[in-house]
Amino acid sequence: MEFDRQLILYCRAGYEGECAAQVQAVAAEAGVHGFCRAVPDTGYLGFNAPDAAALAGWFEHLELDELVFARQLFLAGEPLEQLAPEDRLTPILRALAGQVFGGVLVETPDAEATRPLMRLCRKFRVPLERALEHRGMLRPGDPERPLLHLLFTDSTTVIPGRSRPGQGSPWPMGIPRLKLGRGAPSRSALKLEEALVTLLDADEREATLRPGLEAVDLGAAPGGWTWQLVRDGLMVTAVDNGPLAPELAASPQVEHRREDGFAFRPDRPVEWLVCDMVEQPSRVAELMADWLARGDCRRALFNLKLPMRRRQQAVADCRERIEARLARAGIGIRLSIRQLYHDRDEVTAYLRRV
Ligand SMILES: C[S@@+](CC[C@H](N)C(=O)[O-])C[C@H]1O[C@@H](n2cnc3c(N)ncnc32)[C@H](O)[C@@H]1O
Repeated sequence: MEFDRQLILYCRAGYEGECAAQVQAVAAEAGVHGFCRAVPDTGYLGFNAPDAAALAGWFEHLELDELVFARQLFLAGEPLEQLAPEDRLTPILRALAGQVFGGVLVETPDAEATRPLMRLCRKFRVPLERALEHRGMLRPGDPERPLLHLLFTDSTTVIPGRSRPGQGSPWPMGIPRLKLGRGAPSRSALKLEEALVTLLDADEREATLRPGLEAVDLGAAPGGWTWQLVRDGLMVTAVDNGPLAPELAASPQVEHRREDGFAFRPDRPVEWLVCDMVEQPSRVAELMADWLARGDCRRALFNLKLPMRRRQQAVADCRERIEARLARAGIGIRLSIRQLYHDRDEVTAYLRRV
C-alpha cells in the first residue's frame, strides 16, 4: 500500500477549522497546495494535495511542532472499509503486506462519537503487534522504520498511515497518559506536566528541572503548577493574590507573594517563568517576552487563553509580538506553541533562549 493519499491530523474536537487553516498555510509556504476535508467536532481532518509526490516530500520534513492545533500526524493510504468485526486483522495485514514498521499506534479521534472506539483500539493492539511480528513486519524500536498508524473512524473502517519515528506524538492519539499525583492542589498540575513532557526533550528536562534551580509561577493559586515544580526539586516563588493550598504554602521550597503578576520581578534571574494567569493573550505574550528580553528568566512556559473567534489569528499575533520584542533585544529564541490535550480554549507556549 502506498501512503500518499492525504495527511491526517488529530486535534481537539471543535478546532478542526483552525487546524485546517493552519496546515493549509504551512503547506502553501512550502509550495504544496491542497485543501482540507474537515467535519466539525470529529477531532481529526485530512489534508489532500493533488500532487501526491509533493505532499509526501513535504511530509518527510514536517514536524508536529510546526502545527499549533494538531496533536498527531501521519501520511495516510487508502481507507480499509467494511472490516468484519470478527476478523479485522486479515484484511489489514493483507493491505500492509511487504512493509516493515518500527512501531504501531492504534488510534481513534478524541471526539464524542468515536471515544467508545478506544476500547477496541486497546484490545486490537496486542494481537496486531503479534501478527505483524510473526510475519517479520514489525521491528519494535527500529529507528530506520516508519511507525504504523491505524486510525479507526468507526468500528468497521480504518485509515492506515505512517510517520517518521519522532515526527509525531509518541502517544496514541497524541495524548500522554498522565495520572494526577497524590497531593496535587489542582488538576492544572497535569497541564504543566503534559507541557513539560511534550515540549521539552529528556535532556532538556533533566538539565532544567532539578534541585538548585529557581522558578517564578505567575497566577499560581491554588498551586498545581507550583506543586509540579516543587516535586522536581525547584525553589518556587508563587505569585497570586489568591490562596495557595495550605500544605504547599508551608513548603520550604515555596515563597508565596500576594502581588500583581504583571508588576512582580525577581531580584535575580531565574531558570523558569511559568504563567497561567487568565488574561488577554497579547498581554501575557508581551510580559513573557519582556522577562526573557530583560534576562529575568532563561525560559518561559505559559498559557494563552484564546478568544471565541479568530483564534488562529490571536496565536499568530502573540507569536509576532514575542518574536519582534526579542529581535529588538538581539536575543535568539525558540518558540513552540501547541494546543495540548489538557488545554481547553487555550494553547501552551514554550519560549527559550537559544
Ligand atoms: C487558572 S488559575 C491558575 C491555576 C494554577 N496554575 C494551578 O495550577 O493551580 C489563574 C490564577 O491567576 C490568578 N491571576 C489572574 N490575574 C492575576 C494577576 N494579575 N496577578 C496575579 N495573579 C493573577 C488568579 O488569581 C488565579 O488564581
